[in-house]
Amino acid sequence: MTTASGAILRLFREQDGFVSGETISRELHVSRTAIWKQINGLRKLGYVIEAVPSRGYYLKSAPDVLSVEEIAAHLNAATIGKHIICLGEAASTNSDAFRLAEQGADEGTVVLADSQRSGKGRMGRVWSSPAGVNLYCSIILRPGGMPNEAPQLTFLSAVAVARAIEQVSGLNPEIKWPNDVLINGNKVAGLLNEMSAETDGINFVILGIGVNLNMTVEQFPADLRNPATSLLLETGRPVSRAAFTAVMLNELDRLYRDFISHGFAPVREEWQRRCNAHGRQLTVSDGGTEIARGIFAGIDGSGALLVQETDGTINRILSGDVRVL
Ligand code: BTN
Repeated sequence: MTTASGAILRLFREQDGFVSGETISRELHVSRTAIWKQINGLRKLGYVIEAVPSRGYYLKSAPDVLSVEEIAAHLNAATIGKHIICLGEAASTNSDAFRLAEQGADEGTVVLADSQRSGKGRMGRVWSSPAGVNLYCSIILRPGGMPNEAPQLTFLSAVAVARAIEQVSGLNPEIKWPNDVLINGNKVAGLLNEMSAETDGINFVILGIGVNLNMTVEQFPADLRNPATSLLLETGRPVSRAAFTAVMLNELDRLYRDFISHGFAPVREEWQRRCNAHGRQLTVSDGGTEIARGIFAGIDGSGALLVQETDGTINRILSGDVRVL
């Protein structure tokens, strides 16, 4: 999309009705013929624009494209989303963001893709990433601090995703340790953080976020280990990917600023409240063997799960599969 067509879209949004050719021509310093060309270009991208003599142009509907302009129209973040890169297809947005961060890209740079060829999940799994339906997003952060504090940022993104789902769909998402977002017990989003660090400090962290927005049953891989869902499947209504992305980035920006000025405590408190094990008994297993059983006692500063056993001792769990009883 060109800058001129992005500016025309902004005018449509600001005016919320007909925009005359004269206004567009004045604001963009272009001729009527140039406007006509831009309007036709937008129509080819799926925008439905009516032209009414003596009234001007009217934007009837916009396609669900993930474009910088569409996201920026809803964005009010200070740091996150300062630069947004929208790719058609990526191998993995995490890999692209990592490379950009190594080359010095600014904190707050966001890499999005319409689809991923080799989307990365946790534990070396593949993250199914079909085109046109979901959110695949990676964010570069440079928070400073020590490498063992980096997992705190994953908790931040889980809370941001949960808040965005709540706002956009009215549903009540829960977070499962370490970092799955669930709706009615089924996974709707996954988070994968990658880090570059020295022993004495973090260089940068990549927050990788995948949210199933408009995926249909047929688009899920048949061999999923855990049951998965999408917002479309849960509500029956499609979600605008650009609007969802902006809401999530706005929330992440708020949480990140809070994290930089007040530390991990406020995020930890909200994460624990949103956790599916909050106030519940649980078991943790590793490779099929039970390694802990007790009551959920929160998470610590490095993201470990705390389980209080019946004798009162606190078991600190670094990895495993949680089952809420
Ligand atoms: C999980 O296994 O739960 C984590 C999934 C993380 C998927 C996202 S999609 C955007 C980003 N790019 C990737 O390759 N992975 C993450």
